[in-house]
Amino acid sequence: MKTIDELLRQGVAGKRVFVRADLNVPQDGTTITDDGRIRAVLPTVKALADAGAKVVVASHLGRPKGAPDPAYTLRFAASRLGELLGAPVSFADDTIGSAAHHAVEGLADGQVAVLENLRFNPGETAKDDAERAEFAARLAALADVYVGDGFGAVHRKHASVYDLPRLLPSYAGYLITTEVGVLARLTDDVKRPYVVVLGGAKVSDKLGVIDNLLKKADRILIGGGMAYTFLAAQGKEVGISLLQEDQKEQCAAYLREAAERGVEFLLPVDVLVSAEFPDLKTKAPANPTTVSADAIPADQEGLDIGPETRRLYAGKLADAATVFWNGPMGVFEHPDYAEGTKAVAQALADSPAFSVVGGGDSAAAVRSLGFDEKAFGHISTGGGASLEYLEGAALPGLESLED
Ligand code: 3PG
Repeated sequence: MKTIDELLRQGVAGKRVFVRADLNVPQDGTTITDDGRIRAVLPTVKALADAGAKVVVASHLGRPKGAPDPAYTLRFAASRLGELLGAPVSFADDTIGSAAHHAVEGLADGQVAVLENLRFNPGETAKDDAERAEFAARLAALADVYVGDGFGAVHRKHASVYDLPRLLPSYAGYLITTEVGVLARLTDDVKRPYVVVLGGAKVSDKLGVIDNLLKKADRILIGGGMAYTFLAAQGKEVGISLLQEDQKEQCAAYLREAAERGVEFLLPVDVLVSAEFPDLKTKAPANPTTVSADAIPADQEGLDIGPETRRLYAGKLADAATVFWNGPMGVFEHPDYAEGTKAVAQALADSPAFSVVGGGDSAAAVRSLGFDEKAFGHISTGGGASLEYLEGAALPGLESLED
């Protein structure tokens, strides 16, 4: 994979450089609630601008349906990028139309423009190769060089991620090189004990990674909504908790495989339950009760791991040498259900282990719960991308940079 350093050595002054970033940030109206992904691409954008490139930044935001949708505009992310760069950033309100061409033609050396959401064009996500190729060719007309730095999207076979880098001289940006370097430390020559903490809502999103990590990790700790399908697989009653009935069988098979391989596979021993999902807007007190994982009432749902599980998991993390964590332990957006996620974050912050926090939700949780990012080895900007990397899957965006 050629890297941005090589490009900078060759010189980029006056060249139009297309930077595929992942500016898919959470927003509340016009306010960006977590700008981590914008900050993550700054080193690449800065280095190119400082070297005199005309920098064209492009990204997706959310999942619009192939047509302009104001709810998913990149306008606010573009202004945040400008604030963080401390320089004006122009914004084109289309992707390959006259606004984009006008914005790019108007760039002086060292200036930055952001294009509108790539997914406003159906060609970006098209399954049809020709449709994607056509959109990629139109994007290629805007630039001389491509820099891939949207790590969070490298698992997508999309026009700007997979097809475009094949049309232009292509390089990996600083974020992608850092992310790949870190994830490699979780797959090759891992320092042990290697502990994996998995949470989040759906177990179906994590099957591939569990499959692969059962062969690599020493301990796997499970929390979040996905824990209930495992508890149900052990024959426990889970009330009205999140349950993927069709995955029970697979979860039972993983529990058996873990036992055979001698991998410690831990499930919550107690949980916080309530008859109602909490109000995340008003954050009105939810008054949950703590019950044993063996005694979840039929009319209640589990919404966080309980205090005994918090202690148990913190203990299992204390002597780890390497940790990968993806997915919150509960509904951390509500203060009554944030303690489980906080306890895992605290255990990682206190531990000397090399820790990687992966996934938009866990990264946002760590930041919104007030932890200092520096307390963790690495906070990945990629959710699905880091999981697929650890599954051992081929990632289209990385493959195209390697060709
Ligand atoms: C993410 O948020 O994980 C990335 O930006 C990819 O977004 P997507 O799942 O909508 O492709």
